[in-house]
Amino acid sequence: MYYVRCSLKSKREEAKDIFSCTFSLNDIKFLQRLMPGRFVMVWLPGIDEFPLSPSDYNVSNSTLRLTFKVRGLGTRSLSSLSVGSSIFIRGPYGNGFRVSKHILQGGSKLVLVAGGGIGLAPLIPLIKDLLQQDVKLHVVCGFRSSNEVFFINEITNLLGDSHTVSTDDGSLGVKGTVVDVVQNLLNKRKVSYVYACGPEMMLYKLHRVLLDKGVPHQMSVERYVKCALGICGACVIDGLRLCKEGPVFNDVHLKGLKEFGRYKRSASGVREPLL
Ligand SMILES: Cc1cc2nc3c(=O)[nH]c(=O)nc-3n(C[C@H](O)[C@H](O)[C@H](O)COP(=O)(O)OP(=O)(O)OC[C@H]3O[C@@H](n4cnc5c(N)ncnc54)[C@H](O)[C@@H]3O)c2cc1C
Ligand code: FES
Repeated sequence: MYYVRCSLKSKREEAKDIFSCTFSLNDIKFLQRLMPGRFVMVWLPGIDEFPLSPSDYNVSNSTLRLTFKVRGLGTRSLSSLSVGSSIFIRGPYGNGFRVSKHILQGGSKLVLVAGGGIGLAPLIPLIKDLLQQDVKLHVVCGFRSSNEVFFINEITNLLGDSHTVSTDDGSLGVKGTVVDVVQNLLNKRKVSYVYACGPEMMLYKLHRVLLDKGVPHQMSVERYVKCALGICGACVIDGLRLCKEGPVFNDVHLKGLKEFGRYKRSASGVREPLL
């Protein structure tokens, strides 16, 4: 295990409390080992270490972009960095999304990518990979309200109008949740595969809908990550280590997880109901 020093190249406030920080790093091998859905451990010395899944990376420019929502001290400190200052990262960790011709085969059928809130960020590298495949792609981006909407220009640049924006309160785009939008699409179109990332209750409801319709899927799930090396057990969900066997689980795995959509574990390992 080793840490890589990253220097902040640019910073952007995407929406209320949502920031993107682009770092340059001199470690091509690190960048080459990244793939959509894998995560890095971000270490701010003297403050905290926590997991984030890059929203972009570029081997030729040696850059890595982290997009995150400010939740506590770690993410607030990251959002307050000034250009030129350094942080450290280790990894990348986890399995990432699987994209293969075998998974996506379905002729004229559609592949959906569904992101809820900050869960949209780690889906950008996946969308870029899927665009290299010979598939029809539609992206659903759901937010609570218009002031939390981000990355829509980026999605439009990548996909044109092959995307739907929804807000729970109807302040922008379609009124409703990501699950409502996907359900509508499933009623109208033949969908061969769904990829998703977002709040666990959204993922759980979407998983139930997709199981019911028999649509295979992969979802990136969140748990408390400490070592990220598969040793401490902090991230275990029904015997699977999120940092090793996850964070992306497919429909077969998700179906067998009794804690998915029901329980999470706190920093001290106490099992708590998921609200
Ligand atoms: C694999 C993975 C990828 C993630 N990718 C992203 C991302 O791309 N963008 C983003 O905004 N967020 C992402 N997160 C969530 C992110 O790790 C937390 O928002 C962050 O750790 C909060 O830290 P804090 O110090 O700001 O807040 P704190 O006050 O320390 O914690 C606030 C809440 O954040 C969560 N959290 C805190 N520490 C951890 C930890 N070590 N592991 C998991 N959750 C934690 C807990 O729910 C906690 O209650 C990801 C989480 C995981 C597990
Ligand atoms: S965080 Fe996964 S085993 Fe330690």
